[in-house]
Amino acid sequence: MRLAGKTALITGAARGIGLEFARAYIAEGARVALADINAEAVAKAAAELGPQAIGIQMDVTAQASIDAGFDAAIAQMGQLDILINNAALFSAAPIAEITRADYDRLFAVNLAGTIFCTQAAARHMVARGQGGKIINMASQAGRRGEALVGVYCASKAAVISFTQSAGLDLIRHGINVNAIAPGVVDGDHWDGVDAFFAKYENRKAGEKKKLVGEAVPFGRMGRAGDLTGMAVFLATPEAEYIVAQCFGVDGGNWMA
Ligand SMILES: NC(=O)c1ccc[n+]([C@@H]2O[C@H](COP(=O)([O-])OP(=O)(O)OC[C@H]3O[C@@H](n4cnc5c(N)ncnc54)[C@H](O)[C@@H]3O)[C@@H](O)[C@H]2O)c1
Repeated sequence: MRLAGKTALITGAARGIGLEFARAYIAEGARVALADINAEAVAKAAAELGPQAIGIQMDVTAQASIDAGFDAAIAQMGQLDILINNAALFSAAPIAEITRADYDRLFAVNLAGTIFCTQAAARHMVARGQGGKIINMASQAGRRGEALVGVYCASKAAVISFTQSAGLDLIRHGINVNAIAPGVVDGDHWDGVDAFFAKYENRKAGEKKKLVGEAVPFGRMGRAGDLTGMAVFLATPEAEYIVAQCFGVDGGNWMA
């Protein structure tokens, strides 16, 4: 039990990778606040994970919702040791078709959500004086641009940059900030991605997903469970000397 006695808040944890992280953390002995904009789904997910999980409706784009969500999580769990900034939106469009509304929506969740949830966690962790761990979900898409994916790629590049700045600022308080950059991970999220490529590359449903899976050097798409080892490790004392880094967990898709 590598996280016994620890507490974590994971944003966007009602499904997909965030939910799998919550499951893995609980298996390692942690208590976990699952925070998600989807109230019904997050309540169901937390109930399924059992008494070590609490479900919190939180919109990471709204400061009042962040404040209330962190207050509720800390009140119920007594402390906060670990934050995973996992909530994100995806979109795709040719540059000529990008809209300001879509840009605002994505950056509000992917970047501003990450920044202001980090701030909320850091304020608590600094005041408590016992350090902490903050893990940001970046992406291979943040390492290099992709035609059709300009806004999402830029938002994830910004997450990597913010991880570096926050990592450098917060390590003096014993708070490690690092990031994970997945490649292509099967699940609801990628079904949505596939639909964008079907539209813009004129492909059949499922075709893009099959192609990207075959192109992974490991030989298949990622699964949420492929990422849990890194997410647990970065939250343990063994990761104490790791500061402001972004780790690819992508089957060899991208070499940093
Ligand atoms: N799936 C992939 O291929 C892949 C690849 C690289 C990076 N990532 C990153 O990993 C993370 C998890 O991805 P996933 O595949 O599980 O995504 P997902 O779309 O399945 O889940 C995202 C969750 O975030 C929640 N959410 C959306 N807006 C929110 C808001 N304003 N406030 C709170 N919650 C909100 C959604 O309700 C959903 O439960 C994301 O940061 C994503 O960018 C995923």
